[in-house]
Amino acid sequence: MMMLQNLQSNFSFLVLIFSIQLLLVIVFCVDNYSRGDFPPGFVFGAGTSAYQVEGAAFEDGRTPSIWDTFAHAGFSGGANGDIACDVYHKYKDDVQLMVDTGLEAYKFSISWSRLIPGGRGPVNPKGLQFYNNYIDELISHGIQPHVTLFHSDLPQALEDEYGGWLSRKIVKDFTAYAEVCFKEFGDRVMYWTTINEANIYAIGGYDYGFTPPGRCSLPFVVNCSRGNSSTEPYMVVHNTLLAHSSAMELYRRNFKSTQRGFVGFNIYGMWFVPYSNATVDVIAAQRANEFYIGWIMNPFVFGDYPSIMKKAAGARIPTFTTYEAKLVKGSVDFIGLNHYITVSVKDRPSSIEKHSRDFGADMAAEVSLEALAADQYPVMPSGLYELLEYLKEAYGNLPIYIQENGQKTLRNGTLNDTSRIEYLHAYIGSVLDAVRNGSNTRGYFAWSFLDGLELLGGYVPSYGFYYVDLDDNELRRYPKLSAYWYANLLKGKEVQFSKLRTN
Ligand SMILES: *[C@@H]1O[C@H](CO)[C@@H](O)[C@H](O)[C@H]1NC(C)=O
Ligand SMILES: *[C@@H]1O[C@H](CO)[C@@H](O)[C@H](O)[C@H]1NC(C)=O
Ligand SMILES: *[C@@H]1O[C@H](CO)[C@@H](O)[C@H](O)[C@H]1NC(C)=O
Ligand SMILES: *[C@@H]1O[C@H](CO)[C@@H](O)[C@H](O)[C@H]1NC(C)=O
Ligand SMILES: *[C@@H]1O[C@H](CO)[C@@H](O)[C@H](O)[C@H]1NC(C)=O
Ligand SMILES: *[C@@H]1O[C@H](CO)[C@@H](O)[C@H](O)[C@H]1NC(C)=O
Ligand SMILES: *[C@@H]1O[C@H](CO)[C@@H](O)[C@H](O)[C@H]1NC(C)=O
Repeated sequence: MMMLQNLQSNFSFLVLIFSIQLLLVIVFCVDNYSRGDFPPGFVFGAGTSAYQVEGAAFEDGRTPSIWDTFAHAGFSGGANGDIACDVYHKYKDDVQLMVDTGLEAYKFSISWSRLIPGGRGPVNPKGLQFYNNYIDELISHGIQPHVTLFHSDLPQALEDEYGGWLSRKIVKDFTAYAEVCFKEFGDRVMYWTTINEANIYAIGGYDYGFTPPGRCSLPFVVNCSRGNSSTEPYMVVHNTLLAHSSAMELYRRNFKSTQRGFVGFNIYGMWFVPYSNATVDVIAAQRANEFYIGWIMNPFVFGDYPSIMKKAAGARIPTFTTYEAKLVKGSVDFIGLNHYITVSVKDRPSSIEKHSRDFGADMAAEVSLEALAADQYPVMPSGLYELLEYLKEAYGNLPIYIQENGQKTLRNGTLNDTSRIEYLHAYIGSVLDAVRNGSNTRGYFAWSFLDGLELLGGYVPSYGFYYVDLDDNELRRYPKLSAYWYANLLKGKEVQFSKLRTN
């Protein structure tokens, strides 16, 4: 609160300085890449997700999701998405900002409980209307919609009824929800991502308990009153894979031939590097990559979990039946990748008895999450490059969309976000390097378009190209320097970077 007040009093001054500065800034300096260096068809955009920006949480028939419940219990930094950036009412203005920013594509998610308030059953006409309008607005401005179906916001009704993603029942309900989306929006939406960060959804929500639905049995980060950290993360990922492949099967059977779209699955991909050159640490880093990435990629590419995980988790990791393995294998057109940080890993054999271990103990590695908690992320673009190389080499070079990547800053900071520009410049450069070395990466979406509600930290951290003044009834948006920088890149001019002239 205090931070925002400080900012407010300085705000008009900042805006003034900023506008003057801009008149002077527009000097483009030569750097080592430009938009035109990316292959034909490569797409650039930015993204947000429903609960983080939409607001209108209780309007027009929407019901709460598990994220609403989690936020209202005080977790997302004590903040919630009741109003957020009010994109529900302001989407037309926002699409205009996207045009100004030169976005070619926009990634957003659908709020399941806005479209189907009961989780299953009748479609809410007002929810349907909203997403139709939103998609039409994007298309009429030449912006390609990339739509995610599930971004941490399961209808609370399904969580209450059968435990949400813990139950096999989710497969049928998710497929029915996906069918509504394909049927209603698939004439205009070509890129679908079923589930966002399935691995982190499972680890954060069911092992550590610090993300919705906040279940755990080991007091790591929060003290959970229910859950089972030893088994539930594995069950949840299993059910996301089954639900995804069921939706994909439906798409291929009923929609693909007419709609010609693509269906993918999203992974949160940290890149793990060894803490030291000791062989045990080098192996621990490889193991961590198998646990975080292979957990999802192995089933999609080979039809089963990595053998190292099956060995470590034993009976706690579900087994694919022959039928399921066949359904899951090959069920992605692309992988959506969210990448922010490179993390160092130490070997750490677990002393906990095997049957009561959790995901982390099964992995037998100590992961330093300091980088996650820092106010800003370290700039280590080689991590993204290595991750893309790894996906290429180990998993058959499937098409990849980087669906989230960006720098965190404190929201109370300045509109002069040079650290975000530095980060984006470096990471987009590493994507180009990887593409030049044969990575099948097809697109890049910066996170995020607006400063929205963040799962960790609420409105304190910010990632956006646009600052949203939450103390202003109009929730006005203000472009940061990074928005101008990105616009310059996307509109085909040379990248404007450290040589920015400010006077
Ligand atoms: C969890 O509860 C235990 C026992 O009450 C306490 O010692 C610990 O500090 C708590 N941990 C957290 C993260 O709140
Ligand atoms: C978790 O589930 C497993 C398997 O059902 C069981 O053996 C274990 O006791 C459970 N742990 C907790 C903390 O409930
Ligand atoms: C590992 O060894 C290489 C070559 O000697 C050195 O450059 C690197 O810094 C070492 N890495 C670590 C993590 O100690
Ligand atoms: C933002 O808040 C942090 C922590 O309160 C403080 O250290 C920093 O100086 C503030 N930044 C600005 C630009 O006010
Ligand atoms: C923006 O920030 C950079 C780096 O901190 C600084 O060099 C530059 O002078 C700032 N520009 C303005 C107008 O504050
Ligand atoms: C751009 O320059 C940086 C630093 O000099 C280098 O690491 C990177 O590989 C270059 N990228 C491209 C695409 O040439
Ligand atoms: C480039 O790709 C080839 C083939 O996948 C690989 O062997 C090589 O290590 C890569 N080069 C770099 C610098 O990553």
